[in-house]
Amino acid sequence: MKHTDIKNIFANCADYIGKQTVVCGWVKTSRNSKNVAFVELNDGTCFKNLQVVIDKEKFDAKVENAFPVGTAVKAEGVIAESAGNVCEMSLVSYKILGESPLDYPLQKKRHSLEFLRTMPHLRVRTNTFLNVQRVRSVLAYATHLYFQQNGFAYINAPLITASDCEGAGEAFTVTTRAWNDTAKSEEEYYAEDFFGKRASLSVSGQLEGEVAAMALGKVYTFGPSFRAENSNTTRHVAEFWHVEPEVAFAELDDIIETVEDYVKFIVKYVLDNCPEEIAFFEKFYEAGLTAKLKNVVESDFVVLDYAEAIKLLQQSGAEFVFKPVWGEELQTEHERYITEQIYKKPVFVTNYPKDIKAFYMKQNADGKTVAATDLLVPGVGEIVGCSEREADYNKLADAMTKRGMNIDAYSYYLDLRKYGSVPHSGFGLGFDRMVMYVTGMSNIRDVILYPRASKEIR
Ligand code: 4AD
Repeated sequence: MKHTDIKNIFANCADYIGKQTVVCGWVKTSRNSKNVAFVELNDGTCFKNLQVVIDKEKFDAKVENAFPVGTAVKAEGVIAESAGNVCEMSLVSYKILGESPLDYPLQKKRHSLEFLRTMPHLRVRTNTFLNVQRVRSVLAYATHLYFQQNGFAYINAPLITASDCEGAGEAFTVTTRAWNDTAKSEEEYYAEDFFGKRASLSVSGQLEGEVAAMALGKVYTFGPSFRAENSNTTRHVAEFWHVEPEVAFAELDDIIETVEDYVKFIVKYVLDNCPEEIAFFEKFYEAGLTAKLKNVVESDFVVLDYAEAIKLLQQSGAEFVFKPVWGEELQTEHERYITEQIYKKPVFVTNYPKDIKAFYMKQNADGKTVAATDLLVPGVGEIVGCSEREADYNKLADAMTKRGMNIDAYSYYLDLRKYGSVPHSGFGLGFDRMVMYVTGMSNIRDVILYPRASKEIR
């Protein structure tokens, strides 16, 4: 079906003026006056709609009711300059590709996000979701661009695994066995299963990323991770997209620099390439969004020691539901206070107590903390989990034993510390949370085409 993307017409308006052109798209709005009708068409390629002007005298009477909202149309006409130096089309002929009867659910200009969540197959046609998906795509492109330009190799970690990277017991089991309760033990049950032992969907590609980094030096994965987390929050889903770089010959300070550089790069890329979408989110979802994003690009992120963060919280005089105490996880309310009240920008909290963090993190000389950091941002909280990895065989084996892990199952991982071990570091960025941060959307379910969470699947 030969036609021109509406984006190209707006990008090269002067070249199209006076030319007969064909576009395809869906009707966003239409209005009638006595002699003329106006139809706004959008084909998804850009933010703007193309206004199609219909001189009713040149068509039969049917034209008046031919363009209800949601109708799919092929329109041919002459491009003309309209007010404000934008192009519009003067209609010569049209073909209705798909009618949209009056029970089309998206009739109103604005629907609530809750209502739209009930129809993921249609909500992507609304301005909000169209813009979210476009920004998401640009962020994904910018991610590849950043790592490719900086010498990282893109690797694909397996999605089905026998390891639990985070050790939090949140992995979904992968099985082909029908239910039965005849097995005497879990081991016996899974021995009869497809893989001969328990397998699950990966919660993180990090362990395999480390394997690859020990040969390729700098690598990154960009794919889905799965977590059977029951926390029904606005920041958690069961299937999320994860950017996981892993860098050999890098200590914690080095990887913190990379995280900051990468986050600034992708935010700047969106500011430069999606100005209309960002203006839309600023208008409807987060006042001050553009200034916030510019501030991310232009100012230095804060680096704050965990012990210092606890002190600041304790001395803040703020009323918290959970008291901030050294040795405990920072709760969302604490993270928000640090980024939203104290610093008002992204903050790396570093050197967490080792007992609340994963087994693979490098143990600091103080014997109490690990060389780890979380990047917290206003409005969303944690978007990056990051650490230098324990490169010492004995210390790593010791940490695994203390956590009751099956050392034999992770012998491949320990081998990395046996053969040519080097200091190395990496991080995981929650891509969906990054989309939330950049668009100002406050619920992760609204930045994912088909969100999956506990008791939520379509
Ligand atoms: O902090 P996490 O658990 O770190 C890891 O998985 C490391 N193995 C990453 C690494 O070093 N390669 O997760 C990393 C990020 C979090 O900061 C968060 O942004 C996101 O992944 N995340 C989730 N996003 C949405 N829904 C969930 N259930 C998420 N769990 C983690």
